[in-house]
Amino acid sequence: MTTPLFSFFTNRSRRVVETVTPGRTLADVVLPPQTRRTLEHALAQVRNHELIFGRWGLGERHIAGRGLAFNFAGAPGTGKTICAEAIAHELGLKLLVVDYAQAESMWFGETPKNIVAAFRAAAEQSAVLFFDEADAIATRRSAGTILPHDRESNLTINVLLRELEAFNGIVIFATNLAANFDPAFERRIRTHVLFEMPGVEERVRIWELQIHPKKTPLRADVDFRRLAERYQMSGGDIKNAVIKAAAAAAAESGPDLGKQIGQEHFERAAQDVLSAKSVMQQSLFEGGFAASDSVSQWQSVAARWRTAVVVALGLAGTALIAALAAVALTLLR
Ligand SMILES: Nc1ncnc2c1ncn2[C@@H]1O[C@H](COP(=O)(O)OP(=O)(O)OP(=O)(O)O)[C@@H](O)[C@H]1O
Ligand SMILES: [Mg+2]
Repeated sequence: MTTPLFSFFTNRSRRVVETVTPGRTLADVVLPPQTRRTLEHALAQVRNHELIFGRWGLGERHIAGRGLAFNFAGAPGTGKTICAEAIAHELGLKLLVVDYAQAESMWFGETPKNIVAAFRAAAEQSAVLFFDEADAIATRRSAGTILPHDRESNLTINVLLRELEAFNGIVIFATNLAANFDPAFERRIRTHVLFEMPGVEERVRIWELQIHPKKTPLRADVDFRRLAERYQMSGGDIKNAVIKAAAAAAAESGPDLGKQIGQEHFERAAQDVLSAKSVMQQSLFEGGFAASDSVSQWQSVAARWRTAVVVALGLAGTALIAALAAVALTLLR
């Protein structure tokens, strides 16, 4: 049975919390050797979990901290989400995905309560709990809270730490920025898996994996190695380029039967994806300044308001004292 509060949110906004039956497996993921090794180490911990905490009795000795928490850190499109799915598949479990970035904005004022509900639902369904886009969770709690949002974030992290301590299952966090980790949060993460950008060999295999081996019509000139050597892209970029190339080939005139994706479609698509990405990064960079500007503007407005309130209270106090003195003088006469 699912928690009523939780079903309410899953029904209302499917994209914030979603239970996924994993379709993709580790065979669908191509990883640089170091990333693959750390991931396998993480999987071994999961597989030995029952042995250590069940048969060897450590679960009875250590009631708290029996769960397994992993952090998948890496640049966008390096395969963090598909790996979470593949791990759940490997373990024969469902994946309960919480889109954390979305959740924080949609659940404003309710985030801690819903975090608790997500852990409960994962326990009930024996699902792997996956916090996607979890950068906001990972960041340090602010010491001097000023904004209501900070206060809510701090409370959310405290609740999350408490839930993590009590949870007996598997939790995976995906983050793009792992540098600013909250130390208490970091202590509870068993393994950090760094998702590196794919090298040439991995890119060749990812290009090949993105097309259907039998159904996708490729022209004879297609050379994935050449594409892999020429364009330094993430797996996500390659996926986007393949779809773009297919769209361009399909839009050409003539009967569908004769349509094929050629090397020039892939080349152009790869260039488009990379240039769109550099435009995005530029505007994000500029947007970053804008965002921090607006935060400091908001902070200075808040500071001015605070000063005004203190002055007003001071004046009101002085007026009250003067009035009381006047009343006392009148009575004394
Ligand atoms: N290592 C990889 N091996 C195979 N395919 C990959 C790999 N990385 C990415 N892809 C392809 O790109 C798509 C997007 O990858 P995914 O969503 O897992 O990236 P991500 O690291 O979670 O990105 P983000 O940080 O933006 O959420 C996948 O569905 C898959 O098709
Ligand atoms: Mg992702």
